[in-house]
Amino acid sequence: TALHKMEDFTFDGTKRLSVNYVKGILQPTVTCDIWDEIWNFQAKPDDLLISTYPKAGTTWTQEIVELIQNEGDVEKSKRAPTHQRFPFLEWKIPSLGSGLEQAHAMPSPRILKTHLPFHLLPPSFLEKNCKIIYVARNPKDNMVSYYHFQRMNKALPDPGTWEEYFETFLAGKVCWGSWHEHVKGWWEAKDKHRILYLFYEDMKKNPKHEVQKLTEFIEKKLDDKVLDKIVHYTSFDVMKQNSMANYSSIPAEIMDHSISPFMRKGAVGDWKKHFTVAQNERFDEDYKKKMADTRLTFHFQF
Ligand code: PPS
Repeated sequence: TALHKMEDFTFDGTKRLSVNYVKGILQPTVTCDIWDEIWNFQAKPDDLLISTYPKAGTTWTQEIVELIQNEGDVEKSKRAPTHQRFPFLEWKIPSLGSGLEQAHAMPSPRILKTHLPFHLLPPSFLEKNCKIIYVARNPKDNMVSYYHFQRMNKALPDPGTWEEYFETFLAGKVCWGSWHEHVKGWWEAKDKHRILYLFYEDMKKNPKHEVQKLTEFIEKKLDDKVLDKIVHYTSFDVMKQNSMANYSSIPAEIMDHSISPFMRKGAVGDWKKHFTVAQNERFDEDYKKKMADTRLTFHFQF
């Protein structure tokens, strides 16, 4: 049933936000309703933007980037939960507020989050030549992670069964659209703008190396000891226990961690426990077609 007055919406643990299309991309209706404001967002030159397809490693990167900026000050990062420390540009949750409001109220330098495909990025980020960090994750793990997230998060549609979701994801009929278009769009943009393009699998394999890359990009100089501290503090096991980084502060009517925790597995290759042999073949065939026009490649396992 369509909700005509989204502002009257209250989460009760069963009801979910409705979705709609804006510029051909599926989004929560509350986001569609404020699209003009999002598109006209005024970035500041010292804004740092973390951009990802949902479930590609956003929260992990947010934690790393803030610790780099604050030179390893762990206590400072514990001042507030993730969703309050990093305005999520296109996000609006009845009862929790909106990313735009948060961004406007926040002193610089700000670290912002978006899941928007490159062609829907508010133009002022490029006009102001902001630094942008993009993180991509192999689509099989990304799909599995997104499926479990939609099960537990009432701000997104019910994913249905795994079999149903598999088709929905391949068709790009999930919020923020097609994974393939997303990673390719940002890949093509990366050499024309100040974009650092990272991979979840690299972060997992050699976190210190990727933290160093981020440190250089942010133009900070950090001691080896501080780098090690950041790597430790942003490891999956430590972040999973950190109530300021594991999304446990979101009301259970919205995110129900008993269905599936936000910090679920944090692994590369977990998709093998979900994909059937037939699904894997079908996926690979579809992937070959959709990725034929790019040199971008992914690691699906170690
Ligand atoms: S969101 O909702 O889009 O912001 O989600 P996002 O943070 O992008 O992705 C969540 C997945 O990232 C995993 N995660 C981590 N992996 C490794 N190390 C660290 N520190 C870490 N922090 C979060 C998280 O567990 C989700 O992946 P899955 O595969 O579901 O476990």
